[in-house]
Order: sequence, then structure tokens, then C-alpha cells
Amino acid sequence: MKRTVVKIVPMTRSHSETCSGIVAVSEPWKTLRERIDFSKYMALKQAYVYIKEGETAGFIIFTPEPVFARGGYIRAVAVAPVMRRHGIGEKLLAFAETVIARQSPHAYLCVSSFNRRGQMFYRSLGYTRVGTLPDLIVRGASEYIYWKRLRPLPLKNRRIHRS
Ligand SMILES: CC(C)(COP(=O)(O)OP(=O)(O)OC[C@H]1O[C@@H](n2cnc3c(N)ncnc32)[C@H](O)[C@@H]1OP(=O)(O)O)[C@@H](O)C(=O)NCCC(=O)NCCS
Repeated sequence: MKRTVVKIVPMTRSHSETCSGIVAVSEPWKTLRERIDFSKYMALKQAYVYIKEGETAGFIIFTPEPVFARGGYIRAVAVAPVMRRHGIGEKLLAFAETVIARQSPHAYLCVSSFNRRGQMFYRSLGYTRVGTLPDLIVRGASEYIYWKRLRPLPLKNRRIHRS
């Protein structure tokens, strides 16, 4: 039986052209008419790619340190259109959560109000919508803030102690 070789590795310049191609045909960037400057995230070691049989199938960008409310931040995740619905997005997100959880007990991300598939993806993987940033990037569209607890509350924090 043929073995499928997959791995998640730091993004390098050899991957970034394919990743830019994924961004060009994907929401939310298509609607927002935005591109991602991968070079700065590569320099910060915050960008990773999913390689399947030598091909770049998707990417994820995240900050593991607690940058907001004790959480890391997942900036972007995307999978090549022909490779979607095969569990690659889920594996990229699980990888990011494992790295974030070493430094931060929570993870946050933003998803555009018009990106319904993105919202379904995050909800199915345990994220809860906790806020709305109206007209953040374009008038008439919001950015929804999603949150996931990555580590249970320590026992000592389970109740407020008032004297
Ligand atoms: C969102 C995205 C990364 C998901 O990647 P993927 O590899 O297709 O996701 P998975 O196959 O791992 O899906 C995991 C689960 O998420 C949910 N899900 C994923 N895509 C979905 C969709 N289009 N509609 C409904 N649910 C979806 C499902 O529950 C799915 O499990 P299932 O296939 O067993 O039902 C991909 O669709 C994508 O690149 N979209 C464009 C970029 C984007 O929207 N990124 C998120 C905002 S930055």
C-alpha cells in the first residue's frame, strides 16, 4: 500500500508563491481585495505550511504568545481549493493550538461576517463567537472574534474568593 507523506514545516520562500496563489482565490481576501505579506511572518517564524506528497497544500499563520486576554492569535489559515474537506485545515489548526497552548491558555482569531464557511470551520473545531467588530475593514462587513480555551482553568481559579 502506498504511504501518503504529509508534514507541517516552517514556511520558506519556496512555499510562499503557492500560498499567495491560495490567498488570491480564497475568501476573505478575494472580497477584501487583500494579499498577505508572508515574508514578515516567515521572519518571525509564525508561518507554517502543510506539505502533502511534496506539494504545498495549505498554510497557517499564528502568534503563540499571549497577545490578548491570555491568548495567542491565529491570523490566517487556508487550504488550496482542490484539497479542501480532507482534514488539512483541521490538522493545521490542531498544530497551531498545540504550539500556542505551550505559552497561552486561550486562542483567538477573527473571521469576516461574509465568510460563512470559515465560521462553520472554526465552530466545528470548538471555537465560540465572543464579539463583533463592525465595519472594521469594509463598510457593511464585521469581523467576528472567536475564542477557544486550550487548557482547563487551574483548580485554584475555579471560584472567586472574596474576603
Ligand atoms: C476554512 C478552510 C481553511 C478549511 O480547510 P479544510 O481543509 O477544507 O477543512 P477540514 O477538511 O479540515 O474541515 C474540518 C471541519 O470543518 C468544517 N468545515 C470545513 N469546511 C467547511 C465548509 N465549507 N462548510 C461547512 N463546514 C466546513 C467541517 O465540519 C469539517 O469536517 P468534515 O469535513 O468532516 O465535515 C478552507 O475552507 C479554506 O481555505 N477557506 C478559505 C480561507 C478561509 O476562509 N480561512 C479561514 C478564515 S482566515
